This record gives sequence, C-alpha cells and structure tokens, in this order.
Amino acid sequence: MSLNARFSLRRQLVTRLLWPVLVLVAVAGILAYSIGLHFANLAYDRWMYDSARALAHQVRWIDGSPKVTLPQAAIEMFEWDDIDRIYYAVTGAAGEPIYGFDGLPELPAALRSGMSPAYYDGMIDGRTVRIVVLRLPAPGGAEAVTVRVAETSAKRNILAKEILLEVLVYQALLAGAASLLIWAGIRSGLQPLAKLAEEIMARTPADLGPLLADVPQEVRPLVHSLNDLLTRLEATQAAQKRFIADASHQLRTPLSALQIQAERASRENDPDARAEALRRVNASITRITHVTHQLLTLARADPASEARQRFAPIDLARVAREVTTEWVPIALTRGVDLGYTGPETGAPVFGEAQMLKELLGNLIDNALQYNYDGGRVTVGVAAAPAAILFVEDDGPGIPPEAREKVFERFFRLPGSGGRGCGLGLAIVKEISQLHDAVVLAEPGDGGHGTRVKITFKSAPAQSFS
Ligand SMILES: Nc1ncnc2c1ncn2[C@@H]1O[C@H](COP(=O)(O)OP(=O)(O)OP(=O)(O)O)[C@@H](O)[C@H]1O
Ligand SMILES: [Mg+2]
Repeated sequence: MSLNARFSLRRQLVTRLLWPVLVLVAVAGILAYSIGLHFANLAYDRWMYDSARALAHQVRWIDGSPKVTLPQAAIEMFEWDDIDRIYYAVTGAAGEPIYGFDGLPELPAALRSGMSPAYYDGMIDGRTVRIVVLRLPAPGGAEAVTVRVAETSAKRNILAKEILLEVLVYQALLAGAASLLIWAGIRSGLQPLAKLAEEIMARTPADLGPLLADVPQEVRPLVHSLNDLLTRLEATQAAQKRFIADASHQLRTPLSALQIQAERASRENDPDARAEALRRVNASITRITHVTHQLLTLARADPASEARQRFAPIDLARVAREVTTEWVPIALTRGVDLGYTGPETGAPVFGEAQMLKELLGNLIDNALQYNYDGGRVTVGVAAAPAAILFVEDDGPGIPPEAREKVFERFFRLPGSGGRGCGLGLAIVKEISQLHDAVVLAEPGDGGHGTRVKITFKSAPAQSFS
C-alpha cells in the first residue's frame, strides 16, 4: 500500500469549502457592484430629468409655434457643472432646432415617438454622453416639441470606480474572514484526530492497552478496530513472553545436565561405564526433545496464534481411529489393551487435524503412561448431539482435588514417573479452547480410572458445505 503524501483531509476540506465560498463572495461582489451602479445611474438620470423639465417649462407657444426664451442667468444655471459638460436642445416635430445645442446625437428610431421621458447614450466630441428625452404635447393640436438634456459621463464613471473600490475592499475583507473561519473550523474539527495520532505516537511496544482518546462518532469504528488489534497484539506478546520464560526455565537445566553427562562420557575409559554414560546422554536428549516438542505445541495452540485461520471441516471419527491405530504398537509393549469405540466416520467438527491429533496423542500417552501394566484404554467418539471425544483408562485415576489442576502448565501429580514434563493436559486444554470445546477430567466407568472428555460445540451445517 502506498501512502499518497498529497492526500490530506484538511487540504481536501479546505479546498472543498473555501473555493465555493470564494466564488460565492465574488458573485455577491459583482451583484453588489451592478446594483450600486444601477441606483447611482438612476439618481443621475433623475437629476437630468429635472433639468429637462425645468427647460420644458420655458417653452412658450406664440402664434402656435414654440419659442424658448431664457435669461443668461438661467442658461448658466443649466450649464453649470464643474465636472461634466451639459448640453441642451429643444427641437420641433420634424427634428428642426428651436433652441440650444445643435450637435446632439440623433434620436434612435425607437425613441422618435412614444415614451416620455426616455434615455439613451451617445457621443459628442468623442466623449460618451447620457441623454434624456422629454416630449411636450402642443396645446390645440399644434406640433409637438422635444426637449433633450445631455451630460457627459465623467461623474458617473468616477462613481462607478468608487463603488467598485468600495465593493472590492468589502469583498476582500469578507473573503479573508470566511477563509479564516473555515480554516479555524476545520482545524478545531480535526483536533480529535490529531490527539488520537499523538496518543498512538506516544505508545511503546510494551504499552498496548486500549486507546482512550475521546473521538467523534465517525472515527469511533477506527478506534474500535485499532483497540481490537492492540488487544490481539497484547495477547500475542504475552504468549511469546510466556513461551520464552517457559522455554528458558524448562530447557536451561536439562541442557546443562546434558553437557556434563556428555563431557563425562567422553572422559570415561571403561567401555561399560562409557556405555552407561552414553545411555544417560540419550535419555537426556529424549527428554529435552520431548519438552521442546511440548513447548512448541503449546505455543502453536495459543489462542493468540494464527491457528484458527487454518481451520477446516474435519471428520473427528476418522482422525480418532487413525491416531488410535498409530498408538497400538506402543500400547502392546506395555501390555495395555487400546481400543476404539464410535462410528467409522462422521462426527464433523470445524478445526485443525494436526492439532486434534496432538491433543488425542497426549491423552492416549497419559492413559498408557499412568495406567497399570495390562490395563485397558478406550478412545471414543460420539457424533450427536454435539461431537464428543474421550479417552478412558482403568488406571489409578486422578484424585478429585487435582482434576482441575492437572490442566495447568507443569503440574504433575506427586510420584508421577516417566518422561513427562506436565504440559500434556495444558496442551489438551489450549487446543480444546481453540476449537471452542470444553474439556473435563472425570472418573471412568464404575468410578475407576480416568476419563478425559472433550465436548465440541455442535458445528453449524454450513461450515461443511
Ligand atoms: N490418565 C491419567 N491417569 C492418572 N493420572 C494422570 C492421567 N493423565 C494425567 N495424569 C496426571 O496429570 C499430570 C499432568 O499430565 P500432563 O499430561 O499434563 O503432563 P505429563 O504427562 O506429566 O507430561 P507431558 O504430557 O507433558 O509429557 C500427570 O503428571 C499425571 O500425574
Ligand atoms: Mg502427559
């Protein structure tokens, strides 16, 4: 899995929130500018309209024809403006000049009749002008008169620039504030993740307890999975530590003894004594091999191991018959009658065959080892209602107070001989637990001997399909 360094939740959130907000701010700015411009133009248009009306008042009808007479003071008042130039004109019905400036841009065809007042734009001397048109109906059916006032657009342009500047400043402030709020919001929103990361960073391999950071609901599944993993890691680590402790404890002494025995054998000159010393070396090696085997089996059967991943449907009856057959020759050497009772095949369980063989081997080994010579040992399987596996002997039995203790690691009944190291039943218990089965030591039939019984959970039918 490759980590994408560019993939950052914060960056993603910022990009996804900030850009739309900035676009919105920009759109709002454009709207504010055009609304401001519209109303400013409206105000100037009104002012021009008022001028045109004042001029219209001066139109007199003398002998049915229109005349305009304006005192110089009034003309100056009309034209007075320190920024813009103002032009005015009164024309007759056919457009013939009656009064005022003669060079106003021609009326557009659409405005020649109809609406009054009307406005249009044009050019005078290379400068844009805004023009208001006012039409005066003539009294007594005489010809109509058109009054027009034009104004260059310097003031309008200055105001447009001022509005634009104002809007830009406010939009910039707004965008800045929005970015700041978004950034701070995302930062504080992601704070719990940062805290979680800190807590994980602070962990050492020895500190595998659950994570306690208070995280938002959305992150809780992640923390749950992490805690699950930590729990399993902790169990694995504990199992490993226990194995190392057990192994060093169980192997160190026999290995030192073996070394001494081997040295002694090498120094021995007498052939008989040498043979005896070598026999001891051999016995030690056998014991060490056995302990090592038991320790490794126990480690493999640990619930924290990966054994469950190898589980498959297994025919318990077949496995039991196979293992029993393997042990018959050993039973014969001890004069023990080893037999099997149960179905030929069947008794399905979900598990691992090698482990179940190990389990059964340990039980048969015990039953042969701790039985009287010439005793009887029975391996049994029952399929219903749940699969059951048992090994029964008619030996001395296990005293009631020790029936639980025998499953502990390294526990042996006082006086138990043989090469045992006290791990067999611990292995049986671990393998049983791994298979969700329950193990029990009880007296055999008629209250004699020992029966160790393993009851499996009835396996769901689909596990075997
Ligand atoms: N069938 C049995 N009859 C009588 N005692 C038993 C029987 N099975 C086990 N025990 C007693 O329980 C003890 C523990 O058995 P367990 O199989 O765990 O260890 P072990 O046989 O001593 O060593 P290992 O199996 O590792 O070689 C034995 O030492 C023995 O005293
Ligand atoms: Mg044993």
